[in-house]
Amino acid sequence: MRRDIINTAILWFVLTFLAELLLPNFPFPIQAAQEAVFSDESFRVLLVLGMPVFTFVVAVLAYSLWKFRARGDTLEEGAPIRGNSWVSGVWLAVTGGLCVLVIVHPGLTGLAKFAGNPQAQLVVKVTGKQWAWDVEYPAQGIVHASELVLPEGQRVEFQVTSSDVLHSFWIPAFRNKIDAVPGTVTRMYVTPNKIGSFEQDYNLRVQCAEICGAGHAIMSMPVRIVSAQDFQTWVQTQAPPTDPVKRGELLAKSQGCTACHSTDGSPGVGPTWKGLFGEQETLADGTVVTVDEAYVRESIGNPSAKIVKGYNDGLMPKNFGTTLKEGQINDLLAYIASLK
Ligand code: CUA
Repeated sequence: MRRDIINTAILWFVLTFLAELLLPNFPFPIQAAQEAVFSDESFRVLLVLGMPVFTFVVAVLAYSLWKFRARGDTLEEGAPIRGNSWVSGVWLAVTGGLCVLVIVHPGLTGLAKFAGNPQAQLVVKVTGKQWAWDVEYPAQGIVHASELVLPEGQRVEFQVTSSDVLHSFWIPAFRNKIDAVPGTVTRMYVTPNKIGSFEQDYNLRVQCAEICGAGHAIMSMPVRIVSAQDFQTWVQTQAPPTDPVKRGELLAKSQGCTACHSTDGSPGVGPTWKGLFGEQETLADGTVVTVDEAYVRESIGNPSAKIVKGYNDGLMPKNFGTTLKEGQINDLLAYIASLK
């Protein structure tokens, strides 16, 4: 018996030594956020503490199977063992103590690091839907971004929700994730700390981590971490242009104006916008007017007020005066005026 205990102990030490030797080489995915560093540290602590427990069980089991195996002669039962309160007591105390330890650290200490600082420099709203992520940057005026772009070194608050079923917002390179729940907003904080993109490492992606239907596996979106400066540049390419002429051009397209009004002088359902300002127009009743800002403004708000000779009344929608904001009409005017 004494011999068996010594042999098992030796086997336990050898197995533990080998396992702990391999642990530093554990193949973690890329760490692209401070949270990933905390998370991997926690995982390592759990492995280091859990490994001797695991190897102890393996050592006792393996040694017993080998040493006390049936040798083919007699098939009689061994002497019954009724229990050993000393062994079970020590086992419970050690494993129970380890459990309490990991609840405190890395459990509670890790939670404090993940969510303990709700001061975010950037807020990103994320809505999961079958089967895509809709990303919005409220302070930057960006809606429906086609990728998740984050500045390095800034604390980001994700406000996550869902418009249909349960999803889970997960970026493998950040480790942490949170459920997207219809009807409520859940929050996740992250501080990206490594510049990179999905093209460089596939762990830099948003991936749904809660089965949500046929497209669950393809419910992903690329993530790109850039410098704070590049982030500002990106914001500018996403936000409406600062040039009113550019904004007016985009608006003319999105509102369908250019379907009837050409911008290159070619004929259309309505008068062309090219060279419109300053032009003399003959109206249907024979009067001649000079096109100026007031005239165009009136024509946008009330298209029937003055009909240019040769064009039909009633074709242009009459509600642009109410659906467009004052600033948008100014942008349109700037665009039309630029078409010389
Ligand atoms: Cu959305 Cu799985």
